[in-house]
Amino acid sequence: MKTGETLAVLADNWLPKSKATRVTWTAALAFSLLLIVLPWIVRLDGKPHADWQQFLGRFHPLAVHLPIALLLLVPLLEIVGVLRPALREAAGFVLGLAFVSCLGSLVLGFLLAYGGGSVGTTVSRHMAGGITLTIATMLCLLARPWWERNAVAYVYPALLACTLLALVWTAHQGGTLSHGSNYLTQYMPVGLKRWTGLEEAPAAGSFYAKHINPIFDSNCVACHGVGKVKGGLRLDSYDLVMKGGQDGVVIVAGQPEKSMLLTRITLPPGHKQFMPAEGKPPLSAEQIAWIKAWIEQGASPTATSMTGIDLHEQQAEPPLQPVGDYSALMPEIGQMDQAQGPKLKQLSSKPEDGLVLFTVDSAATFGDAQLKQFQKFAPYIVDAELGRTAVTNASFDTLKQFTHLRALHLEGTQITGDGLAKLPPLSQLTYINLSGTQVTAASVAPLSAMKNLRHIYLYNTPAQPPPPLPPDTPSAPAQPAAKSAAP
Ligand code: HEC
Repeated sequence: MKTGETLAVLADNWLPKSKATRVTWTAALAFSLLLIVLPWIVRLDGKPHADWQQFLGRFHPLAVHLPIALLLLVPLLEIVGVLRPALREAAGFVLGLAFVSCLGSLVLGFLLAYGGGSVGTTVSRHMAGGITLTIATMLCLLARPWWERNAVAYVYPALLACTLLALVWTAHQGGTLSHGSNYLTQYMPVGLKRWTGLEEAPAAGSFYAKHINPIFDSNCVACHGVGKVKGGLRLDSYDLVMKGGQDGVVIVAGQPEKSMLLTRITLPPGHKQFMPAEGKPPLSAEQIAWIKAWIEQGASPTATSMTGIDLHEQQAEPPLQPVGDYSALMPEIGQMDQAQGPKLKQLSSKPEDGLVLFTVDSAATFGDAQLKQFQKFAPYIVDAELGRTAVTNASFDTLKQFTHLRALHLEGTQITGDGLAKLPPLSQLTYINLSGTQVTAASVAPLSAMKNLRHIYLYNTPAQPPPPLPPDTPSAPAQPAAKSAAP
């Protein structure tokens, strides 16, 4: 058929002749518009909502398999239908079912995302995909009768092809949501990865993964992570760091002077744009030097060393020791997560990396007795975030049982240091923050016996190394803090 003829036939079919066609198309158009504006009507606000929504929503990952299977069946039936007309007839019916199941999955998907408080680009993309797919399936359903009557030959097959593309894309976004973005490529042969350009993912042993990411993690992610996205910026993965924030990119590879992130961590600490914000301790000179060198030398996710950066101290970081199996305690951890108050979170997607104890929501009421209640989780906790809580020296008796503890935050607490002598058996401890407490040089002295403990923060305490003394004054006792630069 010539293009002119096609248009004529299209117009013939499009321009409503009968009232029924007119009503059908108006309804389809109205419905499509409604679906398109749905994400603006039901805005994802990042907060969990009613339990029943989450209950139903969690059937979404199961339910989506139905439209996927049905939609894949349609072209198959149409093709085999050339030989067996009955199968072609079935294709129309299957397409109808596919549309109904798309709608059902869409509703469940909304309940899951809205009810569960999900937000993020992948969720939005997956949602847009689901909506496109539903509309495309509906259009297929409307265009198919023309094709059956041999009126317009191309429209339906073209729409069906688009529908299948939308299906693949949407399913991929969904897979990324449930399994993580590197699920498919993690075990891809290296050659293939290089060929497809996927090799750029941060390698586990890279300078970024070992040195830059941990700086962001402990200093920035509280405000630039999943929970809070201040300034539109997330710093919890390489891709997000490179993506930038509301004012555009924050890292320009090779150009530290144009990298806003570096500018903001090197401003004078009182400056209103200084990062970390809200009076959090500034990054150490060493950390800033690393970030600068990393940007200067290409901000690569894979490079393993930076010229001019001496890492002998870091290479000696003790290997992580897996914590035991705490799966029996998971229900209790899950309950805590839902309730107000202190929480235990998995440090990473690997359970053997252990748990982090968070108290921020309840810091003021979290004291020695509350800490004691975490005794049964003691061997699995690798990071205790007790900053600004009401714990006192009495808590060292509980803490000494946290045998896998690697980081201990006690900044801004009532700790005076009596009892720090109980910590040396914690052989994994590499970080302790006592800034803003009343610890003294004498009370922190026992820490010098801990050979893995190389980050001791004593900012704003009586134990902070005093300014250089006049030559004839007797010198202060040995300072364990001298091992690492206090911020
Ligand atoms: C206590 C919360 C907090 C912490 C911690 C924090 N930030 Fe921020 N950050 C903010 C807020 C709020 C904004 C948005 C307002 C502004 O631009 O000053 C912001 C904005 C930014 C921006 C600008 C983003 C844009 O596109 O405008 C950069 C870059 C940044 N932060 C880097 C960092 C780095 C690096 C760290 C860690 C060393 C960090 N921040 C730690 C609260 C924080």
